[in-house]
Amino acid sequence: MLARQFCHWPVPVAEAGTVLCVGLHLEDMAAWASQCAPFTTGQERQEASRFAHMADAVRHLTGRALARRMLWALDGQNSVAPFARTPYGKPFCPQTTADFSISHSAEMVWVALCRTANVGIDVEQVHPLPDAADLTDQLHPQERHALLTLPAGELETAFFRCWTRKEAVLKACGTGLNTPLNSFCVHTGPQQNSWILSLPAATTRLPQNNAPETVPWTSHDIATTAAYQCSVAASSPHLEVLVRVF
Ligand SMILES: CC(C)(COP(=O)(O)OP(=O)(O)OC[C@H]1O[C@@H](n2cnc3c(N)ncnc32)[C@H](O)[C@@H]1OP(=O)(O)O)[C@@H](O)C(=O)NCCC(=O)NCCS
Repeated sequence: MLARQFCHWPVPVAEAGTVLCVGLHLEDMAAWASQCAPFTTGQERQEASRFAHMADAVRHLTGRALARRMLWALDGQNSVAPFARTPYGKPFCPQTTADFSISHSAEMVWVALCRTANVGIDVEQVHPLPDAADLTDQLHPQERHALLTLPAGELETAFFRCWTRKEAVLKACGTGLNTPLNSFCVHTGPQQNSWILSLPAATTRLPQNNAPETVPWTSHDIATTAAYQCSVAASSPHLEVLVRVF
């Protein structure tokens, strides 16, 4: 989307029972900061001005502006109220019970929004990762084993898939890296849905030996382009995941 279209763009509305995922492809990066100004707070703009790279500032401001516009579409409000942060740093809007999650990478900014469940989204631009095998050290043993037994040419793609899935779960939990990466497990294969095998202990009351299919969350990979891997997770089962890319 071109930056100048953002102000008047008809924002999709998240319906009950859905996770709405909106992705913006920032075609003209430098023009976005000014177009997002009406939808960001002075504090957000001040934070952005301290980033060393213009692109990081633009991604930060666009994520906040997109989240705010999606929240406004939900309840008809249009105040530029500041977001608060949980003790682990997840931004939230004190005026609503809807949860949202922001992720940005290269030219993509994504926001996922859900009225009734906690939600997490993660996007990563896929790039060469010569140390992918070493990076598997931090993962759950089952993930590590699955990745390291792949043919060499498939490791990188599968690692990114595993990575964005795990980050989506962590961002829905809101704990970020405070939750050890080896304390929960995702499938590393190409299935698009239901790839959570076990959740971090604090998020579930399920007995340890519960079957994987009973994990009561929604999980979904968003097929964008081959250049990006994107995953979303939400803390209720059977939500419909709606994806809009602009
Ligand atoms: C923020 C975090 C959760 C994700 O960061 P990231 O993938 O580098 O960056 P993303 O663009 O996807 O997400 C950043 C956004 O997450 C949000 N965020 C920050 N802390 C968060 C938290 N605790 N929970 C949920 N969301 C959080 C913010 O909106 C932030 O963007 P903003 O500051 O511009 O508003 C990071 O702290 C983290 O824990 N990363 C895990 C890193 C890792 O080792 N992953 C390997 C998995 S195999």
